[in-house]
Amino acid sequence: MDDDSLRRLPKVELHVHLEGSFDVDRIVELADEAGEELPANPQSILRPKSLSELLARLDWWCGLIRTPEQAVRQAYDFAARLGADGVAYAEVIVNPTHWRGLRREALLEAVSAGFDQAARDGHCDAWLLVSLLRSQSADEALEVVEALAARPPSRLVGLSIDGNEAATGPTGHRFAPAFALAGALGLGRTAHAGESSGPEGIVSALDDLGVSRIDHGVRCVEDRDLMGRLATEGVALNVCLTSNVELLYGSIDGHPLATLVDGGIAVTINTDDPVTLDVTLTSELALAQSVCRWGLQGAIAATETAIRASFASASKASDLHKRLSEFAGWTLPDRT
Ligand code: ADE
Ligand code: ZN
Repeated sequence: MDDDSLRRLPKVELHVHLEGSFDVDRIVELADEAGEELPANPQSILRPKSLSELLARLDWWCGLIRTPEQAVRQAYDFAARLGADGVAYAEVIVNPTHWRGLRREALLEAVSAGFDQAARDGHCDAWLLVSLLRSQSADEALEVVEALAARPPSRLVGLSIDGNEAATGPTGHRFAPAFALAGALGLGRTAHAGESSGPEGIVSALDDLGVSRIDHGVRCVEDRDLMGRLATEGVALNVCLTSNVELLYGSIDGHPLATLVDGGIAVTINTDDPVTLDVTLTSELALAQSVCRWGLQGAIAATETAIRASFASASKASDLHKRLSEFAGWTLPDRT
């Protein structure tokens, strides 16, 4: 399968952070505008070697954004970049705790405005998942969701949670009220789990937070019963291969993608922090193909799973399915 077919595939991304969309040139520009000092070798700030290093860097470069206009541009450029890679629809995680130079409401309005403009210009149709940080308190988390209820940003589709569970320990109970309110408001719910936490983090995300899908989730392979539960309940795992190689497994040979697929678990393929990790959804689908030997049909199936697991409206999901079927009809040999 050539990369061109994968690039033309109308792709869907469910696990991607706007915080991971800053390239070195933009960081240099923003640091200059903010009057902040850069490291001697700016290239060295990319390619973090651990999750805690990554999170600290996200704090630093997102903190260089000081005006709504800068945030609008970051969101617009991000959707344009995804569009150029053939991503038709994306749900984008934005964690306001990283963006210390802007008030939360101003940030979320600016991101929505950037996504709106990009969609009008024919780029990727990008939507917003507001994310909590695992180290926040129960009150802080509830206040975030109450504020979303009072003034929902126009592109909001769901609530997420990310951060470092190895550092915080189990926190599911702390965030249960915030996620319950999000559910009552009709928001989609997703959580990072089974990356910096083991299987118990996934169980907590399902039972304490009521999520319908899991970001990462790969460490479910440490518990056969949990794998069975995920398969039976049809919970999709939003897997990010390169991120897992860089921050968790050290090599693609150690990645359990094939075990998940063989176990009947619904998987989607995603980029996590694409610019920071120097990947695109096309390159991640090509990597998945080399791990699973699943051909173009596998990439189409993963995209179908992503549409099903998305928080898109029924009419949008149906449009995405139609585009995907048209693509499959042109590309795959007729087996009738
Ligand atoms: N925030 C950005 N990338 C992340 C990851 N891989 N895990 C947890 N939080 C994150
Ligand atoms: Zn992530």
